[in-house]
Amino acid sequence: MAAAAAARISSMASQLRLSWLMVMLMLVASNNNAAAAPPAAAAGQLRTGYYRETCPHAEEMVFRETARIIRASPDLAAALLRLHYHDCFVQGCDASVLLDSTPANAAERDSDPNKSLRGFDSVARVKAKLEAACPATVSCADLLALMARDAVVLAKGPYWHVPLGRRDGRSSTAASCGGQLPPLCGNVSRMVDSFAAKGLDVKDLVVLSAAHTLGKAHCPNFADRLYGPGADPPLKLDGAYADRLRKQCKEGAPPYDGNVTAEMDPGSFTRFDSSYFRQVARRRALLRSDACLMDHPFTSAYIRLAATGRYDGHFFQDFAHSMVKMGAIGVLTGDQGEIRLKCNVVNST
Ligand code: HEM
Repeated sequence: MAAAAAARISSMASQLRLSWLMVMLMLVASNNNAAAAPPAAAAGQLRTGYYRETCPHAEEMVFRETARIIRASPDLAAALLRLHYHDCFVQGCDASVLLDSTPANAAERDSDPNKSLRGFDSVARVKAKLEAACPATVSCADLLALMARDAVVLAKGPYWHVPLGRRDGRSSTAASCGGQLPPLCGNVSRMVDSFAAKGLDVKDLVVLSAAHTLGKAHCPNFADRLYGPGADPPLKLDGAYADRLRKQCKEGAPPYDGNVTAEMDPGSFTRFDSSYFRQVARRRALLRSDACLMDHPFTSAYIRLAATGRYDGHFFQDFAHSMVKMGAIGVLTGDQGEIRLKCNVVNST
């Protein structure tokens, strides 16, 4: 009896290994058809250890300060990771998301999708330390990439070497955000297209979406899944989970209560792990953009495998790889842009 069970388990395990292999093979095929990546010339100029001579302790300082910040407020790990993503998807990873609006210009950070971004003060605090140690040397764009990595590490996620050498942009407009960030609407092909436009493939989409293992979302970003004619059926959103969400995010006329939040990976929203995949596989994704990943053959296969918890090592490696790719989108290098002295304002000329 026990021997039969053991044989069944061992056969399931080898099937799972095979499945992972098949997903990877599918990926190779999908990569061959992928939309053309944006120019890689500038991205190719990034390199690890970039500040070794000019600011030898930069990475160490960033880690130490980020650790202090996250120790005091563990939920800031999510905020720092999201800041880097929102920076990279709009006008490239040039720290334009950090610039303040001026009387003459509404900046990216005041656009609708960016209004719930957090962590700006934390970035400013670390930048001030860097400026004291190595004036005008470490860019805000590099700082964001490093703090995002450190946030993931401190939340018990993977470590990766961050290629550096980004320079900071000198402009930021709310209008430029239009259509750059993927939609929340739950149409997976639009999300695939939106990633492809940044040179990221369908694997990057599912892997990076797992950043939602960290953090919370505000009620207006998921209430339409719970109420009204467009509410999600149980086939898309687990009934018991939806009932729980309705207790937090109450019915009413939109706009829904912007002060109410729900954890995206309930119970482990400050820990970077694979439980996000289990939530999505069980129709307990909080956001439509996560739920709709089950509508695509590749992303759903990846989620089902990762949800088993047997592939955390693969997932961690994949996440690290996709973060390096995302961190290279549209970067400024060489003598482009500038090294901002304060991340929220461009240098005076
Ligand atoms: C795939 C398309 C994506 C969509 C549609 C999306 C959308 C959203 C939305 C609506 C929220 C909740 C905002 C709020 O209500 O405060 C959120 C939170 C978050 N997102 Fe995404 N996101 C996507 C991809 C990503 C990626 C690629 C990353 C990072 C690599 C990321 C990291 C985060 C994090 C960490 C949070 C939690 C922030 C916090 O707690 O402050 N997201 N996302």
